[in-house]
Amino acid sequence: MGVAEEAPDFQVFRGPGRPRFANRAELECAKLLDYYGVPWDYEPTTFVLLALWLCQVHFVASDPARQTIPWVEYRNTRTGLRREYRSQDWTSRPLQNVPLFEMQCVDCHNRPTHSFELPEQALDKALVLGEIPVGLPFVKKKGIELLKVNYATNTEAAEKIPKELDGFYRQNYPNLYTQRASDIGRTAQALLAIYNRNVFPDLKVSWGTYPNNLGHVDFPGCFRCHDGGHATAEGESITGECNSCHETLASDEASPDILKKLGIAERIAAIQKR
Ligand code: HEC
Ligand code: HEC
Ligand code: HEC
Repeated sequence: MGVAEEAPDFQVFRGPGRPRFANRAELECAKLLDYYGVPWDYEPTTFVLLALWLCQVHFVASDPARQTIPWVEYRNTRTGLRREYRSQDWTSRPLQNVPLFEMQCVDCHNRPTHSFELPEQALDKALVLGEIPVGLPFVKKKGIELLKVNYATNTEAAEKIPKELDGFYRQNYPNLYTQRASDIGRTAQALLAIYNRNVFPDLKVSWGTYPNNLGHVDFPGCFRCHDGGHATAEGESITGECNSCHETLASDEASPDILKKLGIAERIAAIQKR
């Protein structure tokens, strides 16, 4: 087969003989794995669950939840390249006296069980899904306020959230209160559901108790290191450039072209109208 003849001498191919590929795409994927030194086989029968990559990152954290990371080391085990990055908070303490962590899957994929939400996102989701009806004045503002109260127990929340929401509309919007009584009741139940799946006072689990490290918007996440402020002695820094991780397709535009291209502009407009 033509494709097999073209195959280069692979370095980390782990199968017998020479691999043969059914098409070009397979060959290109194999080259990619080989380039990064990820051992591979054609139609393997066993799979590696833990790979030790060529690139290793070690770090020091100054809190148990590993949210503040003042010292980071990058090593390329093939080329021997080593870079030591320090944040400004790192006061050249001797490294022997602090625990050193090797960066692993769970340093980003750190969710403990189900994903915990924050009030803002949870409310947005409920609005989009129609669990909370849109058009109730200040429903998001009031909802977040009620969700963020420190209730002593879930029972107390179950009592106070509906009562407070009801009181808010009865007092401030008497007409609407009678017209949309069932929407207000439905909203109270949706708020309570959000509260009950995220806050467990008896277990001391509240909003943000478990940070999510996969992004950087609500918690530091990637920015624990990629904040542009971790630098080597030579002044190189771990990149904080948005474009090294994202391709920015639009910024600060009410109806950017890209939404039309993706075919979702109308759906978004429909949600906004509701
Ligand atoms: C530097 C941080 C980081 C590390 C380390 C990391 N991941 Fe990820 N991973 C991500 C991000 C970010 C995503 C995309 C998440 C998303 O789309 O919400 C992702 C996505 C994934 C997905 C796809 C999930 C899906 O729903 O499609 C899998 C599977 C995965 N990672 C497994 C691993 C494994 C196994 C390891 C360790 C060998 C690992 N990751 C290490 C950041 C990381
Ligand atoms: C513990 C510190 C740490 C955290 C947390 C971290 N990174 Fe990194 N990241 C590094 C280091 C160190 C490098 C390599 C820097 C170098 O080349 O010297 C790197 C490199 C990268 C690169 C390659 C950038 C380039 O232009 O070469 C990407 C992409 C990346 N990280 C994504 C992520 C994402 C996404 C997250 C969050 C989910 C994340 N990282 C969290 C330390 C970290
Ligand atoms: C080190 C990699 C990295 C860098 C640098 C980075 N981001 Fe991100 N960003 C991510 C990841 C990972 C996510 C989460 C993606 C996901 O959940 O699927 C994310 C999510 C986001 C989101 C979406 C939040 C949401 O609610 O879904 C925005 C907006 C964003 N980034 C903006 C920026 C901007 C602006 C910059 C530059 C100042 C930047 N990012 C730099 C990795 C990065």
